Amino acid sequence: MANEVEQVNSLQSICYTRGSLKLLDQRKLPLETIYLDIADSKDGWVAIKDMVVRGAPAIAIAAALSLAVEVSNLGAFSGMPKDAASFLSDKLDYLVSSRPTAVNLSDAATKLKEVVHKAAAASSEAQNVFQAYVEAAEVMLEDDVASNKAIGHYGASFLQKQQSDPKNISVLTHCNTGSLATAGYGTALGVIRALHEKGVLERAYCTETRPFNQGSRLTAFELVHENIPATLIADSAAAALMKAGQVKAVIVGADRVAANGDTANKIGTYSLAISAMHHGIPFYVAAPLTSIDLSLSSGEEIVIEERSAKELLHARGGLGEQVAASGISVWNPAFDVTPATVISGIITEKGVITKDGADSFDIKSFAEKVSSNH
Ligand code: MRU
Repeated sequence: MANEVEQVNSLQSICYTRGSLKLLDQRKLPLETIYLDIADSKDGWVAIKDMVVRGAPAIAIAAALSLAVEVSNLGAFSGMPKDAASFLSDKLDYLVSSRPTAVNLSDAATKLKEVVHKAAAASSEAQNVFQAYVEAAEVMLEDDVASNKAIGHYGASFLQKQQSDPKNISVLTHCNTGSLATAGYGTALGVIRALHEKGVLERAYCTETRPFNQGSRLTAFELVHENIPATLIADSAAAALMKAGQVKAVIVGADRVAANGDTANKIGTYSLAISAMHHGIPFYVAAPLTSIDLSLSSGEEIVIEERSAKELLHARGGLGEQVAASGISVWNPAFDVTPATVISGIITEKGVITKDGADSFDIKSFAEKVSSNH
């Protein structure tokens, strides 16, 4: 990640043209807009691990494109097509090891491996395998924005139908699920954007999202940038805000949704869901189908990433001065799992999944239904 390029006022986290990838350094926001050059999968791995880029869809796309840039600039490759496929497969496994919880990353890697193995079987040139990889990674970038816009559309319409006052909806969100966490538009923040575009959003409330402050640094930045009426609250103010009657719905993103709808998302999501249930407020998860992991029957099987103690011991999620006593022990899970029982609906790019009176979601049937419609 050699060069730093300053740009002004951009919400684009991933800037890609064939052979070149720049990632917005989200650790520097909102005060500085610095893009880092990503030359290869090693740079991609470090950028994901160190939170230059974060958010489940953005991580997956940035990883895929970091390898696309590496192979676009590879020069001569002496191996056979199957060697090219193994080369790509190994690099994808390496990229998946950067962060464990968001399934989008391993889902993208699995799909890209299928592409390269098929290309290797069908071709006599290693170069064709690389070409197939680069094209498939580029499609992932394009597809994500369209998918987020569809989530926004379905989510806003659904929410309006559920509300007693569908023209004045105030929503609370957590973490950052917007343009910065995706290729563009966002998931939960995409629904908020769509409500605002329809003129029915009264106010968006965003939590600080400690310890890394994705809410105060990133979501607040996006909301201000888009002129969306918005208020920042401390994470610990959420229950009081709900009690005061200021929240009509909670919408969050997801890093991994199990087949029954149990959802891993940013730490603190579970507390918000419990508070929402206590106050009779609907709680929605907005996520693309790539965030769903049908191989897991429940959230108990989701691996939760634990991050460095420094994120709590130092200000600004570990990037600033020390604020906690030296010697204190720290537990810092990056995510928690919200049980399906307290989730009202899962908003996807193919429609909203509901429980229809059951305790959990039947996401497998939903996925089968939408894929048979194609
Ligand atoms: O640790 P982060 O910042 O990558 O966590 C991000 C979240 O938890 C988001 O809510 C989730 O990835 C959905 S982003 C559309």
